[in-house]
Amino acid sequence: MSTQLYRLQQEHLIHLQRDYAALLEEHHLDSLAIYSGHANAYFADDQAPAFQTYGHFMHWVPLADVQHSWLVIRPHQRPQLYLYAPADFWHLPTRLPEEPWVDEFDIRLCSDKVTPALEGNAAIIGDVAQLPTSSLNAQLNPTALINRLDERRIIKSAYEIACLREANRIAVAGHEAAQAAFLGASGELDIQLAYLAGSRQRESAVPYQNIMGLNDHAGVLHYQHYDTTPPRQRFSLLVDAGRRFRGYCADITRTYAGPDAPALFGELVGALHGLKDELVKEVTTGTDFIALHEQMHQRLGNILVAHDLFRGSSEQAVAEGVTRAFCPHGLGHSLGLQVHDVAGLRHPDGTPAPAPSKHPALRLTRRLEQGMVVTIEPGLYFIPMLLAPLRQHSLPINWTLVDHCLPCGGIRIEDNIAVTDQGPDNLTPLTIFK
Ligand code: GLY
Ligand code: MN
Ligand code: MN
Repeated sequence: MSTQLYRLQQEHLIHLQRDYAALLEEHHLDSLAIYSGHANAYFADDQAPAFQTYGHFMHWVPLADVQHSWLVIRPHQRPQLYLYAPADFWHLPTRLPEEPWVDEFDIRLCSDKVTPALEGNAAIIGDVAQLPTSSLNAQLNPTALINRLDERRIIKSAYEIACLREANRIAVAGHEAAQAAFLGASGELDIQLAYLAGSRQRESAVPYQNIMGLNDHAGVLHYQHYDTTPPRQRFSLLVDAGRRFRGYCADITRTYAGPDAPALFGELVGALHGLKDELVKEVTTGTDFIALHEQMHQRLGNILVAHDLFRGSSEQAVAEGVTRAFCPHGLGHSLGLQVHDVAGLRHPDGTPAPAPSKHPALRLTRRLEQGMVVTIEPGLYFIPMLLAPLRQHSLPINWTLVDHCLPCGGIRIEDNIAVTDQGPDNLTPLTIFK
């Protein structure tokens, strides 16, 4: 790990100390206990799903898989880390890395599951209803404080942006391996395995379930299976796959036309790359993300018209809801320790900023600020369920071309962008293409 990253992490922790102290004082709190979380076993079983440390905890501690642990923050004092590390011959006991951040914490390795003692007016963050915290006289998940902490989290420090950039760099190696597997006629499972190998991670560590959609599966927005055998024909592949680095998530999508795709589909993939690039250029301090989402629809209308899929005007395609049928999801979302990061649907003062009724899937409704990191992920899909209602109307849609593209499923191109006062800082290395 580079000394530069350690230096950035140290600054990140100094700023967290200062900002949390101010927030605790603002909320008249003497201490705040943040729970790491733990995995819950399936009903009547001793097996549990994969676990990832909660975001509030990882904001401070770069360990993505610690459980039953606590962080206690008190204004102007060293943070206390109660790290669960039982003597255990079934598992490898938790060990601290030899990294400088460890020295910033007052660390206790706990052989039992402890509940930290809290001083004075206290609050707890976490889903702790089943823990023996009831003995603690503390507020549980106070909304006003959590909104303020989320607001703090949506603006990334230089350390966090460095981590997101590194997560992207490693994920890109996975995307290159997935593309190579597709060229080699692999099926979905083998493409997924190639991705995991290329991005050096096991499946339980991915920040969200990777989407490896061949053919019409590319049009299932959160397609959740991996067919074990390759299809006979290869129209398309959509890979939406990520990677964590010190807890921070990459969320990258690429779509490829296969040898059996109509030429139009390959042209549309190129057009969506161009659309993504045009939208990325607009990512800067002050950009209204709802307006940028609406711009995506206008430009999608242009693409539908330019490729003869819609034989009216692009304005009509937007006004009649045609572009929404071809792209039912939002332009993007905030990205950080959670793939759909916190505070995207709140105003800076914590009041709700819900998605507009026309665009209910939009997860970010804010004006962009320096330090935010967002995804830009325009899509164009051929989803029978969404197209069916349009077939009932006399809209100038070129159904012959649409039906040609149906076996290709759809296209999504997704990059991760840091917002700066000078414009976009694209964290997704542009070497992965087309
Ligand atoms: N991979 C989930 C998303 O793009 O939002
Ligand atoms: Mn995304
Ligand atoms: Mn994605």
